[in-house]
Amino acid sequence: MQQRIPQASAILAASSGAQDQLLPVLHAIQDAIGYIPPGQVDEIASTFNLSRAEVHGVITFYHYFRTEAPARQVVQICRAEACQSMGGDALLAHAESALGCKLHAHSTDGEFALEPVYCLGQCATAPSMMINEALHARVTPARFDALLAKVKEAA
Ligand code: FES
Repeated sequence: MQQRIPQASAILAASSGAQDQLLPVLHAIQDAIGYIPPGQVDEIASTFNLSRAEVHGVITFYHYFRTEAPARQVVQICRAEACQSMGGDALLAHAESALGCKLHAHSTDGEFALEPVYCLGQCATAPSMMINEALHARVTPARFDALLAKVKEAA
């Protein structure tokens, strides 16, 4: 059974339950804990006198809402043309192998999210990527491993 998060329950309890407050409450929950827990859908539905399907429909309609906890660290690989022509595909394949996940997914340890990004303004020094807010250029697979090791060490 999926669990409820007490912080999200507290936000729901403080809500008026008026249906025009559904979106603000969903935003408040995601702002507070980083996502909308699937185990909370029943509670959201009963708070707003909606069906589970209606709440699920709203959560999935807006891509902004996440339904799983965000990873603590984000690796973004540039998928735009200049980077692809300079080894971006090989870099992505290496990143997927090193993290044990595909794009739009989390690493096997849940620590990293692997995301695409479309041009980081570093086309002349492709392939480029970011780890969290740090930009890296001319990233080879070996350099990727070194950067990842450094980030893991600092965590
Ligand atoms: S295409 Fe990758 S940085 Fe511009």
